[in-house]
Amino acid sequence: MSVGIVTGGASGIGLAVTKHLLTRGYKVVIADLNDAEGERLASSLGENVIFQHTDVSSFEQQRALFDRAFKWGGNRLDFLAANAGVDDRQSLYETNEKLDENGLPLPLNLKTVQVCLDAALQGIWLFKHYARKNKIPGGKIVITASAAGLYPMTTNPQYAAAKHGLVGLTRSCGPVFLKENITVNCICPAFVVTGLAPPNIRDIFPKEHITPMSTVIKAFDAFLDNDKMTGQTVELSLDELHFRKPVDYPNESQRWIGTQSQTLWEKAYEKPPVRSQL
Ligand SMILES: NC(=O)c1ccc[n+]([C@@H]2O[C@H](COP(=O)([O-])OP(=O)(O)OC[C@H]3O[C@@H](n4cnc5c(N)ncnc54)[C@H](O)[C@@H]3O)[C@@H](O)[C@H]2O)c1
Repeated sequence: MSVGIVTGGASGIGLAVTKHLLTRGYKVVIADLNDAEGERLASSLGENVIFQHTDVSSFEQQRALFDRAFKWGGNRLDFLAANAGVDDRQSLYETNEKLDENGLPLPLNLKTVQVCLDAALQGIWLFKHYARKNKIPGGKIVITASAAGLYPMTTNPQYAAAKHGLVGLTRSCGPVFLKENITVNCICPAFVVTGLAPPNIRDIFPKEHITPMSTVIKAFDAFLDNDKMTGQTVELSLDELHFRKPVDYPNESQRWIGTQSQTLWEKAYEKPPVRSQL
C-alpha cells in the first residue's frame, strides 16, 4: 500500500487531499497543529489514517513525522503533500509596531515564510532521505503554492513572497530529482473556500470566482498519475488547470544563460571549498 504525508491535513485542501488519497488506496499521515480535529479525523477516517501533531515550522517535529510515517507505512514513503500554510501573521505595513527598551524596532514576525516556504524546503529534504530508502527508490511531492505565487498579493506580501519562492523551488529542483525517481510539482490555486481566509470573505466573495475543491483534486491526480512530470507549476482557476511556464527570456544572452550555462555552473560547484566558503 502506498503511503503519504499531508501537512495541514486537518482542514481545507489538505483534508480533501487526505480523503482523496484514501480513495486511491493510500495510507495517510495527517500532520497538523490542530490536535482536536486531527485526532477526530484519524478515528473517523479508518485504520489507514493516523494523526501526528506537527508544527511544520519545527524541523524536529517534521523529522519525527517522517520517521513515524516511514515506520508506520512498513518502511515506505511514497508521497508528500507539502500543503500547510498560513497568511501573514503581522502586517509589513504596520504603523504602531512595538519597539524594544532602546526604542529600536523588533523584528517582523516571519511565521508565514517559515510555515509556507522553509517548512516545504525541509519537507523535501526529509522526503528525499526516506524516498531513497524505499524498496523501489523514489516518490512524489506536490507543494501547495498559490496564485499568490504567480501574481502580487498586496494584502499579504510575506505570503506572496513565500509562494513565489515555492514556484521557483519547484521549477529548480523538480527536474534534478527526477534522476532519483522523485517528482516535485506545485499547485497554484485561486480562491478556494477553506479555513484559511478570514471567515467574512466567504459572504462577500463573488461565487463565480470561487475555485471548487474538485479542481484541486484534478491537479493532484494529474501529478499522481504521472511518474515523469516534474518541476511543473499548475494554476487552478474555476474548473481549469493551466500549466504555467516561467517568464520568457528577454534576449538571447539570457536564453543562453538559462538553457546552456548549467554545465558551467555544475563544473564551478564541483570544487567543494567553493560551497563551504559561502
Ligand atoms: N484556500 C485558498 O484559497 C488557497 C489558495 C491558494 C493556496 N492555498 C494554500 O493551500 C494550503 C492549505 O490551506 P487551506 O486553504 O486548506 O487552509 P486551511 O486553513 O483550511 O488549512 C490549513 C491547515 O494547515 C494547518 N497548519 C497551519 N499552520 C501549520 C503548521 N505550522 N504546521 C502544521 N499545520 C499547520 C492548519 O491547522 C490547517 O488545518 C495553504 O498552503 C494555503 O496557502 C489556499
